[in-house]
Formats: sequence, structure tokens, C-alpha cells
Amino acid sequence: MPDRDHAVSLLHQWVENEGLRKHMYAVEAAVRFYARKMGADQEVWGLAGLLHDLDWEKHPDVHPMKGVEALREAGYPEEVVHAVLAHRPEYTGVEPETDLDRVLYACDELTGIIYANCLMRPTGIDDLTPKSVVKKLKDKAFAAGVDREQVARGVELIGLDRSEHIQNVIEGMRDVAEVLGIRGEDIGK
Ligand SMILES: [Fe+2]
Ligand SMILES: [Fe+2]
Repeated sequence: MPDRDHAVSLLHQWVENEGLRKHMYAVEAAVRFYARKMGADQEVWGLAGLLHDLDWEKHPDVHPMKGVEALREAGYPEEVVHAVLAHRPEYTGVEPETDLDRVLYACDELTGIIYANCLMRPTGIDDLTPKSVVKKLKDKAFAAGVDREQVARGVELIGLDRSEHIQNVIEGMRDVAEVLGIRGEDIGK
């Protein structure tokens, strides 16, 4: 199985945009958090998080099919491939079925609004609470690109209370806060 180093070099090959790279690192961290919590394989789950948007920059029109092709060619586990397909069911027809599918789907959009929220706060992610994120979710003008329906469906899929899910994603993202530049000490730099 290709390892994380392989995945990172693939990501660098396909994705130039710094914002998209950060998004993929954020989702990886959130998915890894859930893997630990649920007793799943962090390494495998992390790959799905890290690579789910591999082709978004180069082939947005057929996303994620080109990425999936590349993952299969490189020998990534079918579990990872399936989760990547299922994070965009409306396009691929592949519905989230496994725990990994559901977790990836549920973390994808939510990391976007949490990231945007952090940038608005002098203390960044340091003391960010689910309550603050919920407020931003309700403010449709804030980070308007974040699909609220997808967030809601993710919460349903994961089967947790919304605040609990948000707290988990925040905690996962804290692991890579420095990389994302969302700690209090990073804000405004
Ligand atoms: Fe995507
Ligand atoms: Fe994504």
C-alpha cells in the first residue's frame, strides 16, 4: 500500500493551490481523529482524507473520477477509492456506505467553515467552540461556498449530535493547526 509520503508527493504533483492543499490536510486530520476514536486504521483513513480532492484543481468537471483513476493506478486500497467516490455521490452515484465513507463525507465541508471561522478570530482555533461554528453555519453569507445541506447530511450520516461532530472536527484540525496557520499566534501574521 502506498504510504503517506507517497500520498503527499502525489498531492504536491496534482495540487498547486495552497488553499486546496490546506483543505486536504484539514480533512485528513479530521478523518484521522475519527479513525482513532472509532478504532480504525488511521493510516488508511488518512489517505482518503488527504487525497479526496486530488483532481479538483486540474479536472473540476469530472471530479473525482480522474483522481480515482490515479489512485487505482498507484495501488491505493479499494476502501480509500470507495470513500473518494462516495464524497461526491451526486456525481459518481456511489453513496457513502462504510464508516470511512460517512466520516469523509461528514468532515469535508465542515472543515471549510471551521477554517474560515478561525481566520476571523484573533485567537484562531485555540478556543474555538462548536457554538461559534453553528452561528457561522446559520449565517448564510459567511463562507457562502460551504454547502450547508452537505454539512447537515454529513451530521445525519455520522449519527452524532451536531455540536459533538463539530467538536471532533475542531479537535482533529488542532493537530495540524500550525500547518493550516490557524493558531492564535498565526492570525494576522
Ligand atoms: Fe471534492
Ligand atoms: Fe474536499
